[in-house]
Amino acid sequence: MKHNIFILFSIICITTITSCIIEKPLPSYDSFTSPDGRLEMNFYLSPDGEPLYSLIFDGNEIIQPSKLGFDIRHEGGINNIQIFKPATGEPPLGNFNGNGAGIRASDGSTMNGSSLKDHFSVEKVEKSSYDRTWKPLWGEVSEIRDNHNEMTVTLVQNLSDILIADLPVDQDKPSFSSPQQRRIVIRFRLFDDGLGFRYEFPKQKMLNYFIIDKEYTEFTMAQDLTAFWIAGDYDSNEYLYEKSKISEIPSKYDTFDRSGNSCVYPMRVPGVQTPVMLMNEPAADSSATEDQKRLFINIHEAALNNFPAMQLEVNGAQFKAHLIPDAIGNKGYVQTPQVTPWRTVIVADNAPAILESKLILNLNEPCAVEYDEATGEGEAKQWIKPQKFVGVWWEMFLPDYGSWAYADDPNVKLGVTDFKALTPNGRHAANTANVKKYIDFAAANGIAGVLVEGWDIGWENWTGVFKEYVFDFMTPYPDFDVKELRDYAGSKGMQLVMHHETSGSAANYERYLDRAYQFMNDNNYSVVKSGYVGPIIPRGEHHYGQTMVNHYIHCLSRAADYHVMVDAHEPVHPTGMHRTYPNYMAAESGRGTEFETFFEKGNSPEHTTIMPFTRIMGGPMDYTPGIFEQKMSHYGDHTSKARVHTTLVKQLALYVTMYSPLQMVADLPENYERFPDAFQFIKDVAVDWDDTKVLEAEPGDYITTARKAKGVDEWYIGGITDENARTATIDCSKIGLDDSKIYTATIYADGDDAHWDNNPQSYKIYNQVITSGTILAIPLAPGGGVAIQIK
Ligand code: NOJ
Ligand code: CA
Repeated sequence: MKHNIFILFSIICITTITSCIIEKPLPSYDSFTSPDGRLEMNFYLSPDGEPLYSLIFDGNEIIQPSKLGFDIRHEGGINNIQIFKPATGEPPLGNFNGNGAGIRASDGSTMNGSSLKDHFSVEKVEKSSYDRTWKPLWGEVSEIRDNHNEMTVTLVQNLSDILIADLPVDQDKPSFSSPQQRRIVIRFRLFDDGLGFRYEFPKQKMLNYFIIDKEYTEFTMAQDLTAFWIAGDYDSNEYLYEKSKISEIPSKYDTFDRSGNSCVYPMRVPGVQTPVMLMNEPAADSSATEDQKRLFINIHEAALNNFPAMQLEVNGAQFKAHLIPDAIGNKGYVQTPQVTPWRTVIVADNAPAILESKLILNLNEPCAVEYDEATGEGEAKQWIKPQKFVGVWWEMFLPDYGSWAYADDPNVKLGVTDFKALTPNGRHAANTANVKKYIDFAAANGIAGVLVEGWDIGWENWTGVFKEYVFDFMTPYPDFDVKELRDYAGSKGMQLVMHHETSGSAANYERYLDRAYQFMNDNNYSVVKSGYVGPIIPRGEHHYGQTMVNHYIHCLSRAADYHVMVDAHEPVHPTGMHRTYPNYMAAESGRGTEFETFFEKGNSPEHTTIMPFTRIMGGPMDYTPGIFEQKMSHYGDHTSKARVHTTLVKQLALYVTMYSPLQMVADLPENYERFPDAFQFIKDVAVDWDDTKVLEAEPGDYITTARKAKGVDEWYIGGITDENARTATIDCSKIGLDDSKIYTATIYADGDDAHWDNNPQSYKIYNQVITSGTILAIPLAPGGGVAIQIK
């Protein structure tokens, strides 16, 4: 099917060429479709040899012809390839030398030769299809179908064309004796739920090592859709989402609220982070015409490895790739053969389908860790275990409660300070007796782990001082007895969860990594929560640059060697890497519950109705749900307006709607003891699933999700709403119950008078007999939810 496409050059004009007048539609070079035929991608080559693509859904163009490609710079490895003007016998015009200056002319001036975005011709196009099912070690479903069509385009470039194009117009054009060529491959995959494409740089004579100056990938949206977005930033993504038209983003960019974050580095031009969620607005009435059909698009990346993270510049309704630079401003370093991460565009006509998409996982590499995805068997199942954990943690965020630090000395030095000689501040939470209380509580309630933060020396000045040697990850404070706690936990069948706060000093962490993991093995810790608060060391690097991307993956890979599961806080946005490293259980990488304690604004009631459409598209989130005491004024500082912006029941529902195989049971044990009947849901709820059905959803408004617990006939349903009351509709025929069975649903509902603001702890719990034919209609309070167990 060929489509009437938009006028290419007028589109290019939007952002780049202002005086452009050519108005001829560009014919598609080739195209292919998704297995169900609803998505079609066209590939184009402009008269200047620029590669472009467009995307069509149900016959409507949703992404207009958008550019692909890079500007690059040579940095060594391409030596001594001289370019002569043989006809005149003059000295070499230039040569590729390894000094980082690109192609240097004989007079020492630099020639560009740097474009990997134009002067291409198509060498070949190959098409194939793929349909296989694989079994994730853990997940929202127990089987994932990877069914896609693929089109790979090999592009070839004559270097002489580029060099000549770069010469001033009045200069004689040289000729070249043996034209040198460069090739790149763009691999496109269409699934029924979207498009993925990546660039591949094969090893070749003329392309060995280079620096990326700019990625040109565009996503030129055909409509000015509504976007849920957080502002571009090289170091933080712990933000609330804005909702606006794409075209309105630039005008809102400068006032975007970055408060509460310890390390921010705003993108200098208006832009957003991925995943960014786009949609058209629902029709005002139900008699929607064709034009008013819903459209949902999610843009992100998959398999981010050895490359900087991608964020997106915004101009009109167009997004353009923006790679996170390193300390000296370079975007990325490539040694061929190398591939980029996949750029992903998930597309659906309904919101639940976005949440159910497995496109990002399908684009990641298969499991690299002692596990066979085809059979679902492997050694890794013995040590990678989805689980819940409590923590000596929430109390550190409460007014007048615990502290991470043992003493109040603002200047401690590892290897110099005698921590035993310091005067304890009396608030150090990670003390042996307190940890034992948590172990007792977790053991009594069937919770597998106890996180302890602040156990290791160095917290006195862990942040705000840009310190390189901040922790050694092995030496406990004088009041934390590693062996005693190991044995005490072990005697109750429990484990402690290790905490490695790096304070952003990745350099220091890498020095200690193997010893730190060995220390975990020796002391019976199998999960580590790592953290990267503050600016990165090596100084000048960013949380989302290539060096740190490689750091996070290095940690995952080393952790796998030591059979350690990882929950990383403040890493780069997840991109489905937990397929390849299933020991990557969860990440924060977004605004978690802790923000509710910082200030009154906290997290808006709608925040958790957006997170699954944005942050969680890339992978599980350690959101830390389960807060039963919402008001910070309950604790020491009675004037505090900070509070959790949900009802108690919504906190239960989050265990289902905010997917993670590692779920924190985040509140203080004493708060759970006040509400034992509601706590029962947290004790019961599963963390690993055979199946997931999103029953209803609208980004920013509500989500109702049903999941079947792995290996047992038990279902859990979570429904959440924003600041508006609503009725959740649960059609039991959609969740996979056995038609011949009668089940009991235990329903945890907001009380009739519940409200997140003034009455969050009002709830009711009741049983109802249901079958697969039952349709439940359950009222949710403003900022409320519903949680259901079916068995
Ligand atoms: C920020 C993390 O998100 C939080 O969970 C942790 O307690 C602190 N850093 C200290 O590491
Ligand atoms: Ca954080």
